[in-house]
Amino acid sequence: MRRPLLTANWKMYKTVPESLAYGHELLPLLGDLIGWEESLDLVICPTDLALWPLGEELASTPIRLGAQNLDPGIQGALTGGTSGFLLHEAGARFVIVGHSERRKFFGETDVIVREKTEAALVAGLGPIVCVGESAEERSRGETLDVVHRQVQEALKTLQTPQMMAVTVAYEPVWAIGTGMVPSPEEAQRVAEAIRQDIDELAGTEARDQVRILYGGSVNEANLQSFLDTPDVDGALIGGAALKAVNFANMARRVVNRDSFPESGQ
Ligand code: PGA
Repeated sequence: MRRPLLTANWKMYKTVPESLAYGHELLPLLGDLIGWEESLDLVICPTDLALWPLGEELASTPIRLGAQNLDPGIQGALTGGTSGFLLHEAGARFVIVGHSERRKFFGETDVIVREKTEAALVAGLGPIVCVGESAEERSRGETLDVVHRQVQEALKTLQTPQMMAVTVAYEPVWAIGTGMVPSPEEAQRVAEAIRQDIDELAGTEARDQVRILYGGSVNEANLQSFLDTPDVDGALIGGAALKAVNFANMARRVVNRDSFPESGQ
C-alpha cells in the first residue's frame, strides 16, 4: 500500500516570515485530524531561505520539508550554488527536480535532470522528479512518448534501492497554473505508463512502491478524482496550497476519504 502524499510547491512566493506564519497557522488546522500521519504524508517546499526556520517550527510534527531545486555539484567553487547536502543540512528531506518551469526558464535538459536526481539521492533527499508534455505535444498525440523519454532519461542509471526513494510527478505543462486539468482517466493512463517504465528500469518491487503524483491546477474540488485512480498516489500543488487553510482542507479530504465518497464533492 502506498501512502498518499500531498506536496505544496510555494515557488518564489513566500518570504521567510510568511513561511513561518503559514506553518504556525497550519498546525491547529490539522489539530483535530488525530493520527493523520498514519494515512498521509505532507511535504512543504518553501524558498530555501525558509528551510531552517520552518524546519524548527515544524520539528515536533510529521510534516516534512522539501526544496524546489538543487545544484548537482557536491561541494566546491560553484558560486551561487546550493547542493543537496546543504539543503539536507538545512532541513529538507525531499527536493523537486526538473519542474517544467526549471526546464523552460533555466534550460534544464533531461541530462541535467538526471544529474540532479542522482545528486539528490547521494545527499539523502527524496527526489520528486517532474515530467509532463506541453500543449503542442499533447495536441500531436505525443504525451506518452514525451513522458516515457523524460522518465527513462531521468531514472535510467538508478538501482532498485535508489529508485524506491524516488517520487515521480506527472505535471502536464499546459495544466500548470492554468485552471485546466486532464481527466482523471488521462492522468491514470500516464501514471500507469510511468509505473511500467519503473518496472522496466528497476523491477516490480520499485514499480509497486514508487509514488506517482499528479500536478497542475489541483484544488480542493478536483483532488479526490485524481486520488481515486489506481496509479496516482498524491498531488504536487502550487497555487491552491499557498493558503494554509486550503492545504489543510486537502489533507482533510485525503484522511477522511471514506467520508467523501463522491469525487470532487
Ligand atoms: P499549480 O502548480 O497547482 O499552481 O498549477 C503546480 C506546480 O507547478 O507544481
